[in-house]
Amino acid sequence: MCGIVCAISNQPVLPLLIEGLKRLEYRGYDSAGVALLDEDGFERTRSVGRIADLVAALGTGINNTSTAGIAHTRWATHGAPTRNNAHPHLTTGKLAIVHNGIIENHQSLREGLIKAGYHFESETDTEVILHEVDRQYQQTGNLYEAVRATVKRLKGAYAIGLISSDEPRRIVGARSGSPMVVGLGEDGHYIASDMAALLSVTHDFHIINDDELVEIDDDGVRISNLDGETVEREIFTSDQHAGAADLGEYRHYMLKEIHEQTQAVADTLEGRIAAQQVLTGIFGAQDEAIFKQTRAIQIIACGTSYHAGLVAQYWFEKYGMACRVEIASEFRSRKHTIADNTLLVTLSQSGETIDTLAALKIAREAGVAHTLTICNAPESTLVRESELVFMTHAGPEIGVASTKAFTTQLVSLLLLVVSVTRHHRLTQADETKIVKELRELPSIIDETLKREEEIARLATLFADKEHALFLGRGTQYPIAMEGALKLKEISYIHAEAYAAGELKHGPLALVDEKMPVIAVAPNNRLLEKLKSNIEEVRARGGHMLVFADDQARIDQTAGVEIINIGRVDNIIAPIVFTIPLQMLAYHVALIKGTDVDKPRNLAKSVTVE
Ligand code: G6P
Repeated sequence: MCGIVCAISNQPVLPLLIEGLKRLEYRGYDSAGVALLDEDGFERTRSVGRIADLVAALGTGINNTSTAGIAHTRWATHGAPTRNNAHPHLTTGKLAIVHNGIIENHQSLREGLIKAGYHFESETDTEVILHEVDRQYQQTGNLYEAVRATVKRLKGAYAIGLISSDEPRRIVGARSGSPMVVGLGEDGHYIASDMAALLSVTHDFHIINDDELVEIDDDGVRISNLDGETVEREIFTSDQHAGAADLGEYRHYMLKEIHEQTQAVADTLEGRIAAQQVLTGIFGAQDEAIFKQTRAIQIIACGTSYHAGLVAQYWFEKYGMACRVEIASEFRSRKHTIADNTLLVTLSQSGETIDTLAALKIAREAGVAHTLTICNAPESTLVRESELVFMTHAGPEIGVASTKAFTTQLVSLLLLVVSVTRHHRLTQADETKIVKELRELPSIIDETLKREEEIARLATLFADKEHALFLGRGTQYPIAMEGALKLKEISYIHAEAYAAGELKHGPLALVDEKMPVIAVAPNNRLLEKLKSNIEEVRARGGHMLVFADDQARIDQTAGVEIINIGRVDNIIAPIVFTIPLQMLAYHVALIKGTDVDKPRNLAKSVTVE
């Protein structure tokens, strides 16, 4: 995944390109570059590292006054993260390209281009597009036609922007499988991977769909299909604030986002519940009719969103609704049988995860009855391609390790569980109880956040460890998985989660004083069993950290630290217990001095396979 920003303006474009890249850094941050065009030709600067490194590499070039340019922040796929592989790529000093995506048939195209005399300077698949456009350009003398002819030959995913010194006041973009928007500003026109990149210059956008091209110039914007026919597109006005993604008083976005969970959960519930019930129509006008017919749920997601789906499976099945959950990349790569009247639910913070999008398409082709997405990005592809939509109102999430998106997904899923299963086993009393717990949830989260100091102290137990084991039962098992993922992602400590009952079936062999064990203790009939697991670890010299509620009555003994989370009802316990695990991972990472918001090798939005 990478981020692209392109601009044609009557003002110098470098400041907005740099600002746009900073806002796109979540998509990739191993190298970056910019190519500016004026009457003297291209001025290109590229560097390995963050946007800050690119700014340093620009030196006095930061004052460049060119009014056209393209820029890129990279997450390496083809070719190592070197300066030479960084975008923009340039050919014959005349044509420049930025690209997000992967070209699958790059090898065969490359061979043809080498035969035609092209010389490759990088290891990227992107350079293949560049030379192919150049070849077409020499025949047509028209950048738009050259790009149109080229994209018809590409297999894979791309969002590209190209500019030529022969047509210096025009940028041509094209999209298939990777996100792209066009910004309509007062001073110019812009192309970017997402709206947030352009909020400093405009709130008005056209969303570009797959298999479309776009030309921007001083006069306007033209969107067309692969046949070259103009496509009319309405203007989407974003209500996001440019400052919504600022760090404020916090040291890291992840910490800010952990603390925003009280508000994010309250915002996600607002307008969705009444005093004693979950409102109808909140998933879409047709939701009641669809939920009445629904006989099975299939959830598809990746990463943290997948863990939210796993929690929901316990909830759905508790109230009589069959539910399967699968990682999107697995779902898309196997044959499956979808039961009649299945509701397919995709979960995604970004709405752009390529595997989730592909899985949705496959499920639709396989004849799934209805589709619903729970998503945090209103303008995303997933939202546009789903029949029913429910927005998590978490606000922009910048930290690569997902926090508030996850807890708001869980809240949304609980509303979905009620809305679907009230036509099955869920009683009115159950619904009233769940709504009561949800109403209290923001203040319970607020109280839980106050444990930060205590958790920061416990984090010191981990900083020098190389491994950690997380245990949970029932709905807390996926929460243990999420806790392990958070620790892995940002502190680089190898962490694994096990269903506590599996402890004796293997992982117990690993337990010694060097392997801390973190248990998430439910206050339900599974608690007694978990207590036995605690003893099993203790007997083998393992150090244990137990997150429990005040009903759990687990003794604090040598080697066992109990963190009492207060009174938490079982139904909302997975949401509440997530918070201390997030804080634990954050404080371990802080001690280790890792790059919390941009952990190595990862990216926020995975838009390539
Ligand atoms: C990446 C992110 C994770 C996220 C996952 C799924 O791996 O680093 O934080 O959970 O993608 O992303 P989505 O946007 O579909 O929820």
